[in-house]
Amino acid sequence: TSTDREQWSSQIGFVLAAAGSAIGLGNIWRFPYLAGEGGGGAFVLIYLLCILFIGMPYLFGELSLGRNSQKNPVGAIKSITGGGSAWIVVGGFCVLAGFVILSYYSVVAGWAVGYAVKDVLAPTMGFEAFAASPWLNVGLVAFFLLLTLLVVVGGVEKGIERWAKILLPVLFVLILLVIVRAVTLDGAAEGLRFYLVPDFSEITFDLVIAALGQAFFTLSLGMGAMITYGSYLPKREDIAMSGGYVVLFNTMIALMAGFMIFPALFAMGADPATGPALVFVVLPEVFAQMPLGGIVEFLFFLLLSIAALTSSISLLEVVVSYFVDEKNWSRRKSVLIIGVITFLMALPSALSFGAVGAFSDLSYLFGEGGLFGQNNVLGVLDYLIGSAGLAVGAFFLSVFIGWVWGADRAADELRQGSSTLADGFLGVWIFGMRYIIPVVVFGIVMGYLTGTL
Ligand code: PHE
Ligand code: NA
Repeated sequence: TSTDREQWSSQIGFVLAAAGSAIGLGNIWRFPYLAGEGGGGAFVLIYLLCILFIGMPYLFGELSLGRNSQKNPVGAIKSITGGGSAWIVVGGFCVLAGFVILSYYSVVAGWAVGYAVKDVLAPTMGFEAFAASPWLNVGLVAFFLLLTLLVVVGGVEKGIERWAKILLPVLFVLILLVIVRAVTLDGAAEGLRFYLVPDFSEITFDLVIAALGQAFFTLSLGMGAMITYGSYLPKREDIAMSGGYVVLFNTMIALMAGFMIFPALFAMGADPATGPALVFVVLPEVFAQMPLGGIVEFLFFLLLSIAALTSSISLLEVVVSYFVDEKNWSRRKSVLIIGVITFLMALPSALSFGAVGAFSDLSYLFGEGGLFGQNNVLGVLDYLIGSAGLAVGAFFLSVFIGWVWGADRAADELRQGSSTLADGFLGVWIFGMRYIIPVVVFGIVMGYLTGTL
């Protein structure tokens, strides 16, 4: 029953847990490579505008839907439409996306774990051989998923919140250590200039679409993670203020990741536009040439693993909360069953970098060019669910919040517990939730459909 449903113990507990969800591979792996490909400062500028004007207000919408219903994404939609509505499909998509994203996210997170201890595990292996090793990959995924399960089985307060309170401060200190090393390298200034000074001629439609997509991914939006975390918020909590802190911390960590990576890349003469391999292929080369590089490398991949863990627990929690709320399973049973299924689902991704040809080369399905350039299982899942899927999810959820539930009712939810929100601001928010956000997000969806990305 809803009376014994768990809640966050405090505002800071919620802020750290939700910031933990937001802060992840998206900030430290994805944001730097997108910025590197998108001309540096120009991407950063557009990304910040997308976060402020689209991501943050939409985040308030997901959080308020969660708190209003005190339910998982499926239950939240049911609580507004009643059972039997076609909108429940959108909730079902959220749960499915949680499964799928967790499955391949754990593979990349496993690489991060493996690279933290690579000097012991496989000192001479290059990234290609590492990613192609079946036993390394399966072992690392199993290890990382096990950590995720152990946190989530502890529950909302004693598992997720407690570990976020421990891990996020550690992450912050580790990032500071790596930044100090990076910005004191000879030649760091040029990297900082690339990263911070926008070249307006780099701004294209594709860049704006990529920045918007990244804004959703990085804030854990579009698949109900923030609906789920919002569902554990007590009514006395100020959603907009707490959500604002989550956005602030997530933005800070992304910007700090750039301060670690770009000075080091430029100082060592590496190419910032290397793409997804940036962190795993280029950075180790940079570390190898750097004084104290071995320690910096360990700290960097440790912090990447920690960031990934606080996000993977939120992906798992979306699925667990569904089975706990809707199927009356115990948390323990949900975690165990979902854990095993996710592990099995992760295998194709874990074996998709050369270990199993049918997973590594999907040209038999998508032709030589792949699906928008993706030709292995992990890449295709990240594209279909993690990128395009989140945009589609965010589109339907924003229409649901703005029109079906009603942005004015969502605003009433935001008003509860809030001492800071002037009604004027909520007026603007209601307008944005109805007319601006769905339209802009529809633009991203069209961008994916028409294949400009
Ligand atoms: N926000 C996480 C990151 O930046 C990824 C994520 C997406 C987590 C969606 C949960 C839900 O890495
Ligand atoms: Na993020």
